[in-house]
Amino acid sequence: FSRSISQLSSQSQWPSFGIAFDIDGVVLREDTPIGGSPQALRRLYDDSGYLKIPYVFLTNGGGFRESKRAFQLSELLGVNILSSQVLQGHSPFKQLVDRYENEFIVAVGKGEPAAVMFEYGFKNVLSIDEYASFFEDIDPLAKYKKWTSKLAANQSSTFNKITQTKSLYSQRVQAAFVVSDSVDWSRDIQVLCDILRTGGLPGREIGNQPPLYFAHDDLKYQATFPSERFGMGAFRIALESIFNRIHPNALEYTSFGKPNSFVFRNAETVLKQLLSSLDHKLHVDHAIDESHFKTVYMVGDNPTVDIKGARQAGHPWFSILTRTGVFKGKENDADFPADLVVDTVEEVVDYILRKER
Ligand code: G3P
Ligand code: MG
Repeated sequence: FSRSISQLSSQSQWPSFGIAFDIDGVVLREDTPIGGSPQALRRLYDDSGYLKIPYVFLTNGGGFRESKRAFQLSELLGVNILSSQVLQGHSPFKQLVDRYENEFIVAVGKGEPAAVMFEYGFKNVLSIDEYASFFEDIDPLAKYKKWTSKLAANQSSTFNKITQTKSLYSQRVQAAFVVSDSVDWSRDIQVLCDILRTGGLPGREIGNQPPLYFAHDDLKYQATFPSERFGMGAFRIALESIFNRIHPNALEYTSFGKPNSFVFRNAETVLKQLLSSLDHKLHVDHAIDESHFKTVYMVGDNPTVDIKGARQAGHPWFSILTRTGVFKGKENDADFPADLVVDTVEEVVDYILRKER
């Protein structure tokens, strides 16, 4: 620890910059590190493993609580990642707790969407898996889906919080949250349309659409397969197209995540908090101006999401595009050119550390 203090104290200046790394297509493809990400991130820590450069993960992905995702990322990338460094597409949903704290809501997506919402403070939440399982025959294709029994065994801890005596048939869904990518589009589109077209009471007459929230609107993202995969934005288009054919009013929804500017402003705030906690841990009393960073680097693979967002956010954001994900071009993106284009995240960190030395 003392080594880290002396090492940092000998630096001419404290970091006046921060870094936001996208995850899919920049540091990982599903669970596989890419672009030399473990080595690159290691350089942001001192010899004792203490963080010396403030950085966060700014991903549209999700499905797990920030604490659990931080643990998973630490395991995959070999560095100690804090929950506060994980900003996911669904993280801003916690701002809606005041409105829905005790309301009955349904959470959609891979992983543990209900556990995510429960951790944010929503007290009456069911995953769409659990919710659908109460409605016999709601999905006529269920019997052909070999994986259903596995899902049923994975009940979330939020189940007991729902008034069990009251039948779900008469319990109105007040809002639906798409937390992460839908696993079963056919079932989820069917059940969401049931909820949305009836005012939250599947099987009943047509009613006013309850609010619908998406964690992000990514049309595609980079997974392990060489070409991009459909993301939540593609699911939204499918749901919206069908809903608009069966309901007199067009689907209303709100999408969070990148490229929205508030996501980038929030990341900047979190980076500042991280920087001041580093100072605090190092017991150094110095007059760093924490009111602003000179530069915040956004490292992304998707021009229409990561680079567009950083460009819209303006100063102090500086956008860097890698070629390990959605973007595979030789030069720069034509529509949303980044400030810098390199091959891998390893080159990104090399560039930043040389520039900021
Ligand atoms: O589902 C995740 C994907 O749409 C985006 O993830 O890390 O590239 O923002 P990321
Ligand atoms: Mg990405």
